[in-house]
Amino acid sequence: MTSPAEPTRRAYLDALNIDVFVPRDEAPATSTVDFTALRDAVARCTRCALHESRTQTVFGVGNPSADWMIVGEAPGAEEDRRGEPFVGRAGKLLDEMLRAVGLSRETVFIANVLKCRPPGNRDPSKAEAAACRSYLDQQIAAVAPRLILVVGRVAAQELLGSDAPVGRLRGSEHDFNGTPLVVTYHPAYLLRSPAQKARVWEDLKLARRSAGRVAG
Ligand code: URA
Repeated sequence: MTSPAEPTRRAYLDALNIDVFVPRDEAPATSTVDFTALRDAVARCTRCALHESRTQTVFGVGNPSADWMIVGEAPGAEEDRRGEPFVGRAGKLLDEMLRAVGLSRETVFIANVLKCRPPGNRDPSKAEAAACRSYLDQQIAAVAPRLILVVGRVAAQELLGSDAPVGRLRGSEHDFNGTPLVVTYHPAYLLRSPAQKARVWEDLKLARRSAGRVAG
């Protein structure tokens, strides 16, 4: 438990350059520091031609030490304008999906395979995804989530190195370098095919079990 005088004491010790032992549950998330440098690197990125047409990069949003990390495909027009992932109609549906399992965009971390918008909302090319991939890998390593929820074919195939359709990748737990990964339909697809909502609900329950939020 931190006493009211603790911040002052720590500031003095910091000023004197004296190391303080900080219990893990009080320690600031080290990923915050990593994220600042990574965010800057992404903002300056010119690894592929998409930097020429972007309004801004879309790094990701949420809690940098979240239990759940959501991975989508790429920013659309609205995301490119606002600099935040999933803020259009599909984003509203993603918010609802999260709410259904007691989560919000503030408690999870949301990122995309691509940090820049492909013009005309076309699919990311393999070369663009490859150029951007290390940013996503570093984000996943920094967040160290208990569960990765992947929405849609592009992100699922990229992270799982698979050509299989979402219909075959969803419905079971995958392993991503030791982290459970669950695939579900992209909310933009769900807007066009609301009949798939029952399957998405099954996927969300699987994800919740995989994250260890509820037993069984
Ligand atoms: N679709 C995505 O996959 N990501 C976004 O950020 C917006 C729409």
